[in-house]
Amino acid sequence: MVEDPKAFEALLQEDRVFPPPGDFAAKAHAKDDSLYRMAEEDPDGFWAGMAENLDWFTPWTQVLDWKPPYAKWFVDGKLNVSYNCLDRHLKTWRRNKAAIIWEGEPGDSRTITYDQLSREVNQFANVLKGQGVKKGDRVTIYLGMVPELPIAMLACARIGAPHSVVFGGFSPESLRQRIDDAEAKVVITADGGWRRGGMVPLKKNTDEAIEGSGVETVIVVRRMGDRMPVDMKAGRDLWWHDLMKGASAACEPEPMDSEDLLYLLYTSGTTGKPKGIMHTTGGYLTGVAATTKYVFDLKDEDVFWCTADIGWVTGHSYIVYGPLANGGTSLMYEGAPDFPERDRFWSIIEKYRVNTLYTAPTAIRSFMRWGGEWPARHDMSSLRLLGTVGEPINPEAWMWYYEHIGGKRTPIVDTWWQTETGHILITPLPGAVATKPGSATRPFPGIKAEVVNERGEPVGAGQGGYLVLTRPWPGMLRGIWGDPERYQGTYWNRFPGIYFTGDGAKRDKDGYIWLLGRVDDVVNVAGHRIGTMEVESALVDHRSVAEAAVIGKNHEVKGQAISAFVTVKEGVVQDDKLIAELREHVARKIGALARPDDIFFAAELPKTRSGKIMRRLLRDVAEGRALGDTTTLADPNVVAKLKSQYEEKEA
Ligand code: PRX
Repeated sequence: MVEDPKAFEALLQEDRVFPPPGDFAAKAHAKDDSLYRMAEEDPDGFWAGMAENLDWFTPWTQVLDWKPPYAKWFVDGKLNVSYNCLDRHLKTWRRNKAAIIWEGEPGDSRTITYDQLSREVNQFANVLKGQGVKKGDRVTIYLGMVPELPIAMLACARIGAPHSVVFGGFSPESLRQRIDDAEAKVVITADGGWRRGGMVPLKKNTDEAIEGSGVETVIVVRRMGDRMPVDMKAGRDLWWHDLMKGASAACEPEPMDSEDLLYLLYTSGTTGKPKGIMHTTGGYLTGVAATTKYVFDLKDEDVFWCTADIGWVTGHSYIVYGPLANGGTSLMYEGAPDFPERDRFWSIIEKYRVNTLYTAPTAIRSFMRWGGEWPARHDMSSLRLLGTVGEPINPEAWMWYYEHIGGKRTPIVDTWWQTETGHILITPLPGAVATKPGSATRPFPGIKAEVVNERGEPVGAGQGGYLVLTRPWPGMLRGIWGDPERYQGTYWNRFPGIYFTGDGAKRDKDGYIWLLGRVDDVVNVAGHRIGTMEVESALVDHRSVAEAAVIGKNHEVKGQAISAFVTVKEGVVQDDKLIAELREHVARKIGALARPDDIFFAAELPKTRSGKIMRRLLRDVAEGRALGDTTTLADPNVVAKLKSQYEEKEA
């Protein structure tokens, strides 16, 4: 399971400890372990206390109803997420506080107060109603990082229409798959989006995606204007700004049951088909609001910047719902970190006096490569807390982040969670927990995580195993859209009643948890989850390919890179031209994020006697390790030959 035991041994030798800085702890929401103790004594009471920080239209009658694998949180409670993120702040001094500070890639910017945001959300909620969208209808949103994205999400939440945000980097085919699965009738998109100075043709992609589908209405945000003319199909396509002009800014929030669906978000699994992860209302909002407050020690005067794209769960929870539920100021940036120069992030931090930065290890490793001179040009003294998410952070990157970005002053929170978990589950509380570079430390109060062996027994100190969650938590997924068997099978069958994360982990002598990466056929490329099967299906879809096996190969910056082993059909010429074509083919089918880094032509793939491709051995080949156990192979010569060919090519 553990890919490179030596690297992980090295991790556990990591003995640097960083106690919370005294001045930080003195002012922190959590200064000591009292939250942990409270939650330990009475987890339901702890979460109920967190839920009480929200506004409920109708109180709940029971905190938790747990019938594995289905949990109901805050049973019978009624609330509305947009009301909690907007209306309740309007009754306070926060009315004119910045809710969202937005900066476009070309340098344009907007500051949107709670009052302004609320007006636009109400208007757009009325627009959606005007288009016939009703409570329970799914709405697909395919936008870049523009303010209309959170506005559309909050408008959906206001009228009880679950949203399904699809990352703007996905291909038309991936978009189509997600629209069809959710049976969305309305799609919200833009003419285009900026990315590293280039224009992403969102509307064109949408047109291609929905050809012949059940989509009745497309609402188009104008971002590019004359730079990017688009076709508007009469009777189907409508401009956002035209619809908003006539819309009233008053729309009553729909009282939602705590367990009503708030959104779907598709994520990759171990089969070719992405899973529509279901998140509901009361528990999810409780979980994201509580973790935003305590993990990021969010204060009213903070500018909080999560650099994720809202197309991923990190953006849902920590750009939109968590910060806004707390009445915070959330910064949102449209573009790339190296546009126009490699100091864009640092110039944004200086310009808006950002206090908290939450980003991914892969980004940090790029910054390291680009060099410390880029951040050194900027005054980043406003920063008081740093965070990371999405993949394991190597201690070297952690230290670089600490020194060059945090100026050796700020604590770092390494936060482990998943699309499925809804919110952060393993993390330090920055004023209360000493950190160690490379460890996500301990479960958030109220969360129970274990590292277990094959039999489900907790492992001893210093040992590795599977990370599992043994108690339900408020933001947990409530299912996979339209596929209850897959929900049961993916997460609950291995250890009945216990949530299987799909991650490997170790626990050290202090009880700290060290994440070791995925143990299933999911690759984590630059913090993005991609199923090896999805890429394999895209490859075999090409006319020249007979068979393909895809693995994640260690990569210095991206954590893992996609590496493919391909056998071609009879008579096909195996050359660089074909490699380039296959890489593009995958990018076109799925999106650029899935483009393989390298493709190797193999005469045969190593298989078990029952015909299963042994990806584990392919990883050994690609990473230049001695081959693991080959006894289950139908023909051990296949992999030995492959290894020598591969080494020849690399040399
Ligand atoms: O393998 C873990 C890794 O990312 C996976 C979840 O991916 P996704 O659903 O796309 O959500 C990413 C952002 C929440 C996990 O199963 N992962 C996430 N955070 C960490 C991590 N691995 C190590 N350390 C982390 N802090």
